[in-house]
Amino acid sequence: MVSFKSLLLAATSLVSIAQSRKVFIENDGLEALQLLIPLYGGVEVVGMSMSFGSYSAVDAVAAGYNVLKEYNMTSCIPLYLGAQQPLLQTNDTFQMHSQLFGAPVWEGGFSPDYEDSYTWDEVDYDQDTPGAIALIEAVKKYKDTDPVMIFAAGMMTTVAQALSIYPKLAEEAAGLYIMGGYIDTQYAQAVGTAIQVDINTDINLIQDPEGAQIALTAPWKELYIGGNVTNYLVPSQELYNRIIAKAGSLEAINNNTYFTALQDIVYTGNYAENNDQETLPFWDDVVSFFMTYPELITSSTNVSCAVDTSFYSPFYGNLRIWGADFAPTAGVKVGNGTLVNSIVDSQFYDTMIEVLFQDWTQYCHTGTYAPLAGY
Ligand SMILES: *[C@@H]1O[C@H](CO)[C@@H](O)[C@H](O)[C@H]1NC(C)=O
Ligand SMILES: *[C@@H]1O[C@H](CO)[C@@H](O)[C@H](O)[C@H]1NC(C)=O
Ligand SMILES: *[C@@H]1O[C@H](CO)[C@@H](O)[C@H](O)[C@H]1NC(C)=O
Ligand SMILES: *[C@@H]1O[C@H](CO)[C@@H](O)[C@H](O)[C@H]1NC(C)=O
Ligand SMILES: *[C@@H]1O[C@H](CO)[C@@H](O)[C@H](O)[C@H]1NC(C)=O
Ligand SMILES: *[C@@H]1O[C@H](CO)[C@@H](O)[C@H](O)[C@H]1NC(C)=O
Repeated sequence: MVSFKSLLLAATSLVSIAQSRKVFIENDGLEALQLLIPLYGGVEVVGMSMSFGSYSAVDAVAAGYNVLKEYNMTSCIPLYLGAQQPLLQTNDTFQMHSQLFGAPVWEGGFSPDYEDSYTWDEVDYDQDTPGAIALIEAVKKYKDTDPVMIFAAGMMTTVAQALSIYPKLAEEAAGLYIMGGYIDTQYAQAVGTAIQVDINTDINLIQDPEGAQIALTAPWKELYIGGNVTNYLVPSQELYNRIIAKAGSLEAINNNTYFTALQDIVYTGNYAENNDQETLPFWDDVVSFFMTYPELITSSTNVSCAVDTSFYSPFYGNLRIWGADFAPTAGVKVGNGTLVNSIVDSQFYDTMIEVLFQDWTQYCHTGTYAPLAGY
């Protein structure tokens, strides 16, 4: 009787833990799927911070704000401003490194022709709490009940700041899930076109090598690295056709303001007519997906890892990996990472479509979502 009761209790608490997995999202901009995939998988988003990186800080916050507005979630998902610059890297050192060792093509917020698309008065976010502090508070708040996963898909600066202020972050969080950490890309870069060089360049880590080294070598319970795998999931005509068929027509997608995210996936609807930027891999979304559905990872490799922080190195800001027995033992701090090699691709595309055809506008009110009327 007693054991039956405690079994029941155990089962109940397992269910409630499973239902309340939590994530803090840190990124240098946001696409809807990075918010919606976790929510769809029952993961609560406890906060989001947006940082400088591929976009300026104001444009990154605006991207987060626009997604929250689009889905009517500003009232229940707090938005913060994360790092506005790397720890040590500056625009000058970034440009100088490119001259010394070759250009990464994509320079994000450091691009010479970068211009802000937004101004600060166009965005609404929590101005009282810096992103790193919000991240620490979220991790501390749930450490004993539902440890928070940290999703970091831009520079690792905000995570590094949080670790510096509160080193226990690593052990109290459920784990760190990053986008970045490509390996073996030198040949692809040498023989590739500009867009292939861009796709094979680890901008997230090279924009802030020191921040990345701090984040990737902390003693996380789990450190999942979405590098190469994120390049293997890409748009295709087949995917466009499925989305267009479900919507009824391309016009039905373009006519509907709720379908902004779908518009940004299909563009012209014709793969051959879409430009390079419109056919980029589903990078950050892939990490959101395997973080939410770890059971759909089909291959991964455990490695010791570190980030090259020698400025006078062609690999400054690149991930270095070793088998545990052969990793550096002194001088360079190393972390324990799991490189994700593959996931169930078909489930990724299926989930993407399902998620974007849900009506999310009542989420803050009811805590749930429903299929969009008519679909
Ligand atoms: C970075 O440096 C480039 C090249 O010197 C310059 O064109 C650009 O305006 C700078 N960007 C920022 C954000 O300072
Ligand atoms: C990583 O990507 C590069 C470039 O596409 C490829 O040559 C290499 O084989 C990949 N390695 C792994 C382990 O996926
Ligand atoms: C990596 O794993 C080894 C072996 O379990 C452990 O001794 C070491 O402390 C871990 N390092 C980090 C940074 O977690
Ligand atoms: C798209 O909008 C136009 C103009 O409002 C309308 O004539 C057309 O029927 C709409 N098409 C679809 C498929 O909703
Ligand atoms: C990686 O290490 C974890 C424990 O740290 C273990 O559960 C997992 O099975 C390992 N994965 C592989 C592919 O060896
Ligand atoms: C937006 O969310 C608010 C607060 O949760 C809710 O009361 C309202 O009905 C939602 N608006 C729409 C258009 O769904």
